[in-house]
Order: sequence, then structure tokens, then C-alpha cells
Amino acid sequence: MQRRCILIAALTAALLKADDIPVYRNPSKTIEERTEDLLSRMTQAEKVGQLSQGVLRPGVADPNAYIQPIRSGAIGSYILGLNSDDPAARNTLQEIATKQSRLGIPLIFGFDTIHGLRTVFPIPLAISCTWDPALFEKLEAVAARESRAAGIDWVFGPMCDLARDPRWGRVAETFGEDPYLASLFAAAAVRGLQGQDPAAPDRVAACLKHFAGYSAAEGGRDYNHTNVPEFAMRNLFLPAFHAGVRQGALSVMSAFNANDGIPSTASRFLLTQVLRDEWKFSGFVVSDWEAVYETIPWGFAADEAEAARRSLTAGTDMEMVSTTYRDTLPTQVSEGRLSQASIDASVRRVLGVKFKLGLFERPFTDAKLFRSAMVQSDGLALAREAAARSCVLLKNEKLLPLERSLMRIAVLGPLANDRDEMLGTWPGHGSAADVVTLAEGIRAKIPAARVEVVRGCPLLETQRTRTLTDGKVVVDESADDARTATIENAVRAASQAEVCILALGEPRGWTGENASRARLGLTGRQQQLLDAVAATGKPVVVVLFCGRPLQLTTVLDSAQAVLVAWQPGIQGGDAIADLLFGDAAPSGRLTMSFPIDVGQLPVYYNRYNTGRPVLEMVNYRDLTREALFPFGFGLTYTSFSYEPVQIKTGETDMASALITNTGTREGEEIVQLYIRDMACSEGARPQQELRGFERVRLRPGESREVHFKLTDEVLGFFGRDGNWRVEPGSFQIWIAPHAQTGTPASYSR
Ligand code: GLC
Repeated sequence: MQRRCILIAALTAALLKADDIPVYRNPSKTIEERTEDLLSRMTQAEKVGQLSQGVLRPGVADPNAYIQPIRSGAIGSYILGLNSDDPAARNTLQEIATKQSRLGIPLIFGFDTIHGLRTVFPIPLAISCTWDPALFEKLEAVAARESRAAGIDWVFGPMCDLARDPRWGRVAETFGEDPYLASLFAAAAVRGLQGQDPAAPDRVAACLKHFAGYSAAEGGRDYNHTNVPEFAMRNLFLPAFHAGVRQGALSVMSAFNANDGIPSTASRFLLTQVLRDEWKFSGFVVSDWEAVYETIPWGFAADEAEAARRSLTAGTDMEMVSTTYRDTLPTQVSEGRLSQASIDASVRRVLGVKFKLGLFERPFTDAKLFRSAMVQSDGLALAREAAARSCVLLKNEKLLPLERSLMRIAVLGPLANDRDEMLGTWPGHGSAADVVTLAEGIRAKIPAARVEVVRGCPLLETQRTRTLTDGKVVVDESADDARTATIENAVRAASQAEVCILALGEPRGWTGENASRARLGLTGRQQQLLDAVAATGKPVVVVLFCGRPLQLTTVLDSAQAVLVAWQPGIQGGDAIADLLFGDAAPSGRLTMSFPIDVGQLPVYYNRYNTGRPVLEMVNYRDLTREALFPFGFGLTYTSFSYEPVQIKTGETDMASALITNTGTREGEEIVQLYIRDMACSEGARPQQELRGFERVRLRPGESREVHFKLTDEVLGFFGRDGNWRVEPGSFQIWIAPHAQTGTPASYSR
């Protein structure tokens, strides 16, 4: 067989002498040579086609609807809106592009693989609570394998936005409120998705989104305007993107927001000065969904021609879904309102990524591969580990871990046995059939016990279906079947149980995009359910399923233990049962502050000190400004003590502290390093900034000294010119279990 292959290859080469193959089709040429050759052969319509992205809607995968635009080269990319992961439809369209169009330029297919495709992991906000970027890299590698096998060449992630306000539903997709930690996760995501060679059959192109400042939406209202000044932009909202670019991300997505009145999609400061001139980003920029067109309703562009011209020249290379590029750019060039160079520069960047992805050599997905790539045992094991390590224990009055000898448990609440809700927001191609529910996980853990499951009440009390103008159904809040969901029924089950586990939270449809909330309490009658069950006097564990920090004061009053499980993915039930019964110990630490009350918002640890930091001035008359649970907080099944920070000067100055396990169980602690730059000539620095952490595992009574080098990387900041620098002066250094505790040591550099 091998001899035959060699003979065929030799014969083919002989027949097709190298110079018969157009340069752009010759893989032995450089990407630059191939790009220039192809560009020289393209018509204007074909060039603008490469800057236009359509969407392959579910159920409308009839190739006939797409043949003409693809055959004529008017479209260069599609969002794979299909719900199925069968790549057949994608390959059909690719066949048309590569064999029926004039130049045979392959399409690039994108999709929102945000936390796994079929093997659905916990949401990114949950994953960030593991403080383990290396774990996330593994998850993203599984996500890449499944995505490429399903015909997705390019995923719209990682989301690098900084979470500032839990009213904003998209905090679920972020890595929390700290730029240093978010940077580590962003870089890990790019490594996991793209690997060493994004052309490999199990890798995809990454897309850093949403560039930039989108998460600072005023009032936490999605799509709203932002007012992030440059110094804060550079030190808070840009670092995670910068880390992703340095890691080699092949694309960036421009955001919906307008910052200081300028839509990000048409921001020369962001897309040219920062991204290209300062960061030397060489990939391409895709707009967010119709964001080019939306520069008109923003009141920035007067019409589609101006929207297209100002977005393209600012640095947005590809237009997602809206068609202003295709409809207006050729004419603007011929009328002299736009240079040909602007179009050619964007086409080069898009073609460059297609070459890097190997799409010219391997345009098709191996349909046999995708079934074997989905939901594999390695991915399931990672999903269970990630879900367990994402959970954060907020309260435990000696109730957890539960005894396995328990014989009667009531698992109550609308999320006790729900499958879809565990998939969370942006569920990829996740299937409810693959989900292990909380009740199932508990039953599997204690098979001899009587586990009674009663919903008690629905997540929501009303039926509402909201449809956006573009036909995208974003929320379908179904009314619940009143017969099964009664609080009285739940109280009866509780009174007969030894322990009650309440699975409460918020609907996944109230998280993610276009899902802002003005109130952060439990939805529907869940609080009444909790209070009624608590009134039975039985021990109560609340397992909280949410996509954001919620307002928990009334939950804490009625529960002896509270475990935040976020939106845990398909292995959530087993993972949470591992924690509840002690097969694993909670190790998650919050990456986003939990407020006491919505009235405090925004609440985050890396705030400014103000000029009057005395408490009665910075607190409200009727409430403290402090978080209920701060950044970095999380309990486990043991306890730890921290000795004062010691500073040692030398070749490299060091900060150290002795950590001891003062409890009765072995446990894992995430020791955190915070700094404060007491005086910065370019602008005040936050009163605390995370700049390092170390995971230590200690047996009862065991101690370990943890050291952190006080390097420029730890102490510095981004200047207004974009350069990282350290100024000599005074610093405060904490080594602590979370942001709201510990006494800092003084240090001078
Ligand atoms: C959406 C989101 C973006 C997503 C894109 C494609 O509107 O803002 O995160 O990647 O459209 O689905």
C-alpha cells in the first residue's frame, strides 16, 4: 500500500511540475508569497467577499440558499449557527467554495465554543475560580478537538472582558474582576485552542473578545455605553487581550460598546494604535454581530457607507452579518472616498489566517472523525474535575462534608434535577442527555439512601418569550407545571429527611448576552421555599446555580452551608456530590466579589483608595461599601493561618509568609500576593492588585513558607504610552487568603 502511495505521489508531482501550480496553491511557498499572489488575482468583489461573514441558520442549511454568494466569492466566512455538530452541511458549502468558485478560496467557519462544545464544562467565571490556567488550557484543548471535528475552524473565545458589575449578564463568560488573573486565563485559552499549530486537525483559531471595555456598560445594562478613560483601559480592561495577543491569538472581535462616544468597532485608538501599532497584532479583527451597521444607531456614522468606511479604516477587517462592506466598499473606492490599500490590508490579514489554519490544503472536515471526537472519557474526567474545583464554599457551620451513612435526604428546589440549566449560557452543542443532575449525582454517591426529589417551586413564575428584532430568541421563560412544584410538597419531604439540599439560583436564560438584571436575589418563590424548609429545623445545604454573584444575605440566614456551583456543565451532579460527601474538598476561590446589596454596585476589590479613605466617608450612611464575600474568598474543609509578611532584600527582593494548616483535614490553599503602589506619577493605582498566587496542599498541622519575588512584573503598571514600568517608591505587600484581610508589609523600591 505504502509503495503504491509513493508511486502515485511521484507521478502526480511529475505531471504537475511545481511551477504549474499557482503560487497561492503551493504549500511550499511562504504565507506572504501565497497571500500576495492570491491578492493579485482577486477582483474587488472577491476581496470584499473575504471581509464579509454570513450566518448558517439552524434548519436552513439548504445549500441552495448559499450557492450563489459562495460561488461568486461574495462571502468568505460563516457562523455555524447549526445546532447539530454534523459537519456535512459545512462540507457541502466548502465544496462549493473550493471547487465551484473562480479562485477556490476556502470558507472559514466560526462558532461560539465558550466552555466546551459537546463536552460542556463549567462557565468561564466558574473555571476562573479554580485559579488554575493550566487546567483551563486542557479544557480548551478538548473544546478545540471537538470543534474542529464538527467543522468549526475558529471559535469566538476566549472572552477577555473584565467583570465589574454582576448586573451585566455576561460576567458569566469572563474570568472575573482581576486583570492579572484574567490575563493568565486568556493566554491559557489561546494555547489550548491553537496549540503549537492551529492547522492541526484538533486545533482552531482563537478570537479575543470583546475588544474593548464592553463590560464597563453603565448600570450593567448590556450593549450600553462605557466611559473608561485611557489609563484605566490600559491597566484594567486591556491586559487580558494583550496577554492573548502575545500568546499568538489569530483574531480579535471588536465590541458592541461605544467608549466615550466612539464605537469600539470604529475606534482607531483601540484597533490601530493599541492593537496594531503598539501590540503588533498580525491576525484579523472581526466585528461583533452587526456592530459595523450599529455605528449608525449609535449616532456615530450617518449611513452605511460611513459605517463601513470608518470601521474598516479604524481596523475592523471582517464584518459579521451586516452587509455594509459588501454593499458600499467597492463604490467608495471607485469614487475615491476610500483607498484600495485599506481593503487590501484587511484581505491580506484574513487570507493569512486561512493559510495558517491549513484551510487551502485541508478545507474539509473528516465526517467520520467528529463522532469519535465527541464526549470522550478524558474530556468527561476533566469536566468533573473542573466542576468540583470551580465550586466555592461560602458558608459551612460544621455541616459539610455529609456522612455517607445518611439514609434519608431531600433534594429540593427547581434546580434539583434539571438538565438544561446545568449547561449554562452559551452551551455550544451541549446535550441535556449528557448531563448528570445534582439529584443523580447524590443518588449515585449514596445508593442505599432514600433520596427524595421535590422541585417545590419553579425558577420563574410567569411565561415569557422575548424575541429580538433579528429573530434571535434569547429567552424562553416557560411557566412551570403547578402540580409538581409546591412548597408544601417540599416541606413534607424536608420534614421526613435527615438533611435537606436546596438547589436554587437563577435561570441560565437570565445570564450571558442580553441578560442584565436590576435585582440579584433568588428568582420566583425560591426564597419562600428556602425559608419554609429552614423552618422545619432540618439542616439545610444550599447549592447555588448561577452565572454571576447573587445577593445572598437572606440565603445565608436560612442555610447552615452554602456552596456556589455556578453553571457546572455536564458533570456537575457528580462533581458537586464529590464535594458534599468529602470525596473532594472545596478549593475554589471567588474571582468576582459578592455584594451585600445591589445598592453598593459596582463592588470590586481593586478599587481606588480615594482622598478620604476614612470609613465613615467611604461607606454609605446605611451600609458598608465592603463586599459580603470578597475577591479571593473561599472556604474548604480545613483552616489555615498566615504569619505576618516578611520582606527580604537581596539580589531579588522577596516577600514571604508561613502558612499552616490549623484544621483536622488535609487541604488546599491558594496563597495570594497583593500589592499597592502608594504613589504613581501617571495616575493613582488601585488600593490592592493581585500580582501572584501559589497553590499549597498541607496536611493537618503542616506549615510551609511561601515566597514571592518582588520583580518589575509584580510591581509595575502600564503607562499612558502603553509601556510597562515600575516607579521607585513605597509599596504595600500582602500575602493573604483573600483581598479583604491581612496586614500588609511596607516595602520600598
Ligand atoms: C454575539 C456576541 C458575541 C458572539 C457573536 C457571534 O452577539 O456578542 O460574543 O461571539 O455574537 O455569535
